[in-house]
Amino acid sequence: IYGEERRNSYGPNIEIESEWRPFREAVEGFMGRQWLGGPIIGGQLRQSGEPRAVTAPQDRRIQAGSVHWAGTEEVSEALDQVGQGFAGWNATPVDERAGCLERLGDLLEENLAELVALCHLEAGKTIQDSIDEVREAVDFCRYYAVQARKGIGQTQLGTTFDGRERQYRLEGRGVFACISPWNFPLAIFLGQVSAALVTGNTVIAKPAEQTSLIAFRAIQLALDAGIPADAIALLPGDGATVGAPLTSDPRVAGVAFTGSTETAQLINRALAKRDTEVVPLIAETGGQNAMLIDSTSLPEQVVRDVVRSAFASAGQRCSALRVLYVQQDVADRITEMLRGAMQEQVVGDPSLHSTDVGPVIDTEAQQGLLNHIEKMKRSARLIAQTPLPANAGQGTFVAPTAFEIDDIAQLEREQFGPILHVVRYKASDLDRVIDSINATGYGLTLGVHSRNEETTRHIAHRVRVGNIYINRDQVGAVVGVQPFGGQGLSGTGPKAGGPRYLLRFTREVTL
Ligand code: SER
Repeated sequence: IYGEERRNSYGPNIEIESEWRPFREAVEGFMGRQWLGGPIIGGQLRQSGEPRAVTAPQDRRIQAGSVHWAGTEEVSEALDQVGQGFAGWNATPVDERAGCLERLGDLLEENLAELVALCHLEAGKTIQDSIDEVREAVDFCRYYAVQARKGIGQTQLGTTFDGRERQYRLEGRGVFACISPWNFPLAIFLGQVSAALVTGNTVIAKPAEQTSLIAFRAIQLALDAGIPADAIALLPGDGATVGAPLTSDPRVAGVAFTGSTETAQLINRALAKRDTEVVPLIAETGGQNAMLIDSTSLPEQVVRDVVRSAFASAGQRCSALRVLYVQQDVADRITEMLRGAMQEQVVGDPSLHSTDVGPVIDTEAQQGLLNHIEKMKRSARLIAQTPLPANAGQGTFVAPTAFEIDDIAQLEREQFGPILHVVRYKASDLDRVIDSINATGYGLTLGVHSRNEETTRHIAHRVRVGNIYINRDQVGAVVGVQPFGGQGLSGTGPKAGGPRYLLRFTREVTL
């Protein structure tokens, strides 16, 4: 329970056989289904573009359905539609807009099995990750509904000397472009969309190319929940055809983006080139996330948390651990235990309860990660590599791998997958280590394992990251209680799922 007005959602507990079995059967029932998706403008599916097949990352022979991509004309038409819809939606009482989000949350829960099946097939997520994905999307809808009721709309400020009542209100900015990633194809997608909508903006949502089907289904449910057809448009497609024209169009009054730092910089430049209003860019981008382990930490707990932070969700979380710093005195013991734990991990079919690590999103991601592994095998010491299953060839699997390196500075860029780098450090070098983490310029998550409170306090003050996790894993931020987002090259803020997120989507008016 997080406050009287709202509880976070809960899902089936798949550790209990009686909850796992019916749930898996329901999900299996959807497996043979072919979904169809495409642009939604004015509440209607458009099928003008060539349909593109959607295949499952775990087995490229499985086709989940197809999606029509949007073309240039649809981008312009969508901008006109939601541009016209803005005045009406912005004038709709905030309570009504929040009610739509709450109904959407309910509809997501009612359609849990279908959304889990879609997430699992399109993004290759394990069943547990897919359930968590839907739950996080529900939480965003309900949390932003509560936040909007509390803080958006009109408040009395008091009376000025001329005897007039002064008022202050927050309202929508106009058309918001929401550009979202494939790694949280429902949660981040709907997090952005619901925040933009509840504050009075109308929205053009551009989902990641790889995960447009689940986004399509989410927008259908948003329309069913009462969001007007001229308040939301969906434009699946590639960055060049959809993303670039959107961000350079003067009709766009703000952009919410989650993805790579490079793309955020491109969007920033496109917005800056417009000879019009300066508008907000809310960007949540990459990281080079580290964890620091000292000699007072509990090795069993450390290894469990390292494995989850680095390899859960196939390492495809922006929060995931990339560089583990282990104090010299305990490094041999920790790496030995890590090797053992990595041999025990199960990589494979994400629909099986026994699977810990599923596939990565596509062949391009797989190739990039495999290239990095090959490069590291020549220049670093291999600590361990989890075995791949015999039938891995049909899917885009990457074996979880850990290397020992000298320093974080050796890594050119973030490897967005199940690859961990381990660095040994001397206790006397702690500040130098923190400074080298800061020197990457990224600042998303940091994990610390230590039973010395002075050490954890010191690290937490010196490091410049958005989310710090002490004596636990460093993934899986919870809406409302762990607002999520970084600083520096990792993002602009405000934090998603936090009390200040909605403000950036608004304009202030005093009257
Ligand atoms: N919100 C996600 C997490 O905390 C980000 O990838 O893991």
